[in-house]
Amino acid sequence: MMRTRPLKVALLGCGVVGSEVARIMTTHADDLAQRIGAPVELAGVAVRRPAKVREGIDPALVTTDATALVKRGDIDVVVEVIGGIEPARSLITTAFEHGASVVSANKALLAQDGAALHAAAGEHGRDLYYEAAVAGAIPLIRPLRESLAGDKVNRVLGIVNGTTNFILDKMDTTGAGYQEALDEATALGYAEADPTADVEGFDAAAKAAILAGIAFHTRVRLDDVHREGMTEVTAADFRSAKEMGCTIKLLAICERAADGASVTARVHPAMIPLSHPLASVRGAYNAVFVESEAAGRLMFYGPGAGGSPTASAVLGDLVAVCRNKLNGTTGPGESAYAALPVSPMGDVVTRYHISLDVADKPGVLAQVATVFAEHGVSIDTVRQSGRNVSSGGEAAIEQGGGGRREGGEASLVVVTHRALDAALTGTVEALRKLDTVRGVASIMRVEGE
Ligand code: NDP
Ligand code: HSE
Repeated sequence: MMRTRPLKVALLGCGVVGSEVARIMTTHADDLAQRIGAPVELAGVAVRRPAKVREGIDPALVTTDATALVKRGDIDVVVEVIGGIEPARSLITTAFEHGASVVSANKALLAQDGAALHAAAGEHGRDLYYEAAVAGAIPLIRPLRESLAGDKVNRVLGIVNGTTNFILDKMDTTGAGYQEALDEATALGYAEADPTADVEGFDAAAKAAILAGIAFHTRVRLDDVHREGMTEVTAADFRSAKEMGCTIKLLAICERAADGASVTARVHPAMIPLSHPLASVRGAYNAVFVESEAAGRLMFYGPGAGGSPTASAVLGDLVAVCRNKLNGTTGPGESAYAALPVSPMGDVVTRYHISLDVADKPGVLAQVATVFAEHGVSIDTVRQSGRNVSSGGEAAIEQGGGGRREGGEASLVVVTHRALDAALTGTVEALRKLDTVRGVASIMRVEGE
């Protein structure tokens, strides 16, 4: 039975994502009504610049007073696609107080204040859905929150930022410069209002916090996530990666410790083998592996940014929330019962690729190898000036004669076996103090093996 009285939707924000949400709501109105069991009506659109021409939007619906819109009392669902912390946070809590459930794409806000927002939704008996906040169009929140609710997730690893994947992919495959690739990503609507959030890893860190929280039933905030951006990745890093049969991706990695007693969450650039499925994720696409005890390894892949893909996720949530509303129910709220401690980056076990500029004289390799050994870090391979001189452990290290640079310098590339990140950091600090080490040209973690 189709209800004739429409469910009223307030759209907060009508930019890259909001304009696509409005378009799909209009063009697919009949199908949405059938799927929900009642028509959905766009009851108001809050923006910052009311005079801007917005195709397909009735100007009479446009307002700059978002607070008055969410306080109207007849709004069933508020779709928040403004972004940022305020006024989005106040508008969402006001919406709950005035009878509306909320669909949001705002990862920055959810990573910072997710617990309080969930509590407010629960207190007022409303829904808070945010599939679009992580990995654009890819269904990931709902599979973790619902489909895998009976399993034990141990690891979530993937590419969750479209802008940086677009930039790294361009740098790798076309040799494009960083700024040129960023400008293109911004023009395509992938980047955040301030692209610093993308390139410095804040956006991916917010997504990692959300994913870790849901996966491990534990509150994980943005500040708990170790974050390194991709602005320092150079063409030389890509050359080194290629020599190792790898490429470079900005990865988000959330892991349960081997003893199950704690979790970690981190975002940083990493080398991954070309044979790894994540290496072939191109452009603004995202891909995320979820490893769980019973299901094993699941891979989620698709468009991670852009107006239309993100609107798809928002619309999916809108349908779910509207159905709940008609059924007089709400979907799952926050699940943080496990309350596992979030360990620092030093506790993570990983591998390093370290590029050193060293004095080209006898004994330097032995000196360098000693520093690794003193920190309990085992070396996998060493290459001097691009020539592989050893493989399979410290015992095989020897100094090659080739690749000498003018001024008596050589380039050493060391790849380690897996070790505690704290030990690797300590190793690099000690290497910097050696007279024979003229500089640490680059350090990058190696993942995916
Ligand atoms: P845009 O900057 O394109 O749009 C923001 C919209 O919010 C604009 O319509 C703007 O109005 C409006 N707005 C800004 N401030 C206010 C305010 N104080 N009151 C009312 N309206 C306001 O952002 P996006 O559409 O790209 O992103 C929106 C959200 O979706 C963000 O949380 C973002 O992180 C998230 N997201 C974005 C994705 C993407 O690919 N772009 C993908 C996944 C999530 P006006 O039009 O007048 O300027
Ligand atoms: N700026 C984000 C990205 C949008 O590039 O992934 C999608 O969340």
